[in-house]
Amino acid sequence: MRLKDKVAIVTGGASGIGKAISAAYVREGAQVFVVDIDEQKGQAAASEIATNGKAISIRADVTSSASMEAMAREVDRKSGRIDILVNNVGVRIVKPFLEHSDADWNAMIQANLTGPFLCSRAVAPFMIRAGKGRIINTASIASFVGRPNRVAYVAAKTGLLGMTRAMAIDLGPMGITCNALAPGSINSPMNAAQAGDAEHDWGKETPMGRWGTPEDIANAAVFLALDESSYITGAELKVDGGWVSTKARAGELAEVR
Ligand SMILES: NC(=O)c1ccc[n+]([C@@H]2O[C@H](COP(=O)([O-])OP(=O)(O)OC[C@H]3O[C@@H](n4cnc5c(N)ncnc54)[C@H](O)[C@@H]3O)[C@@H](O)[C@H]2O)c1
Repeated sequence: MRLKDKVAIVTGGASGIGKAISAAYVREGAQVFVVDIDEQKGQAAASEIATNGKAISIRADVTSSASMEAMAREVDRKSGRIDILVNNVGVRIVKPFLEHSDADWNAMIQANLTGPFLCSRAVAPFMIRAGKGRIINTASIASFVGRPNRVAYVAAKTGLLGMTRAMAIDLGPMGITCNALAPGSINSPMNAAQAGDAEHDWGKETPMGRWGTPEDIANAAVFLALDESSYITGAELKVDGGWVSTKARAGELAEVR
């Protein structure tokens, strides 16, 4: 029980990686607020994770500052503290550069970059009041390298790293750490189509030779939330099976195996 009595907020907690992080935090003894725009999925996830009040669903929209402020106040009212915030909501549009509309661009920046800012700004005062806190931003391998047909997503996820570093500086003196977790190819609902496609197996592109699981990310999210991680801030932790570190030509990885 490495997070006993901690209170955590996980945005996008109804699905995939966020749901696995929420479940891992509850297993480690925390109370988790599953914050998601999809109320039904949020409630279903919370009751699947715990039935003893340890997982509570709140419907909120990370792209709205009013919604984020109301959510933070509600968590504080119910629990009296906020120790951990995981800014996990992410949305991905995949289409050619010239087909990205103004609305596509704005939606990517809103959900993937503005959202974590609005949520952190709403939650930070409660952490500052306590003199400590953990903020974890879910970045991506797309924060480190360009990816085809994802111009707005890549821009937003790269910006998230810069924001993480700047927040680490501004909030460090208040005892709050701020780090980024960068998942690689994870077999969450976001990648359902590709994960079931043996011919285009993204897992084979990694030295580890497999897709990542939401639990792989959850394990790293637990690590960054621990009291023992208090000297890690402004950092990026890739959980990608080595994908970003690998530059192999076609077939070369198979030769290693
Ligand atoms: N799956 C991957 O391979 C992968 C790789 C790299 C990075 N990531 C990042 O990991 C994070 C989680 O990805 P996932 O695959 O679990 O996604 P997912 O699509 O399974 O879940 C995202 C959740 O966010 C919620 N959501 C969307 N917009 C919202 C909003 N405005 N306000 C509140 N909730 C909202 C959705 O309802 C959904 O429950 C994202 O930030 C994603 O970019 C995922």
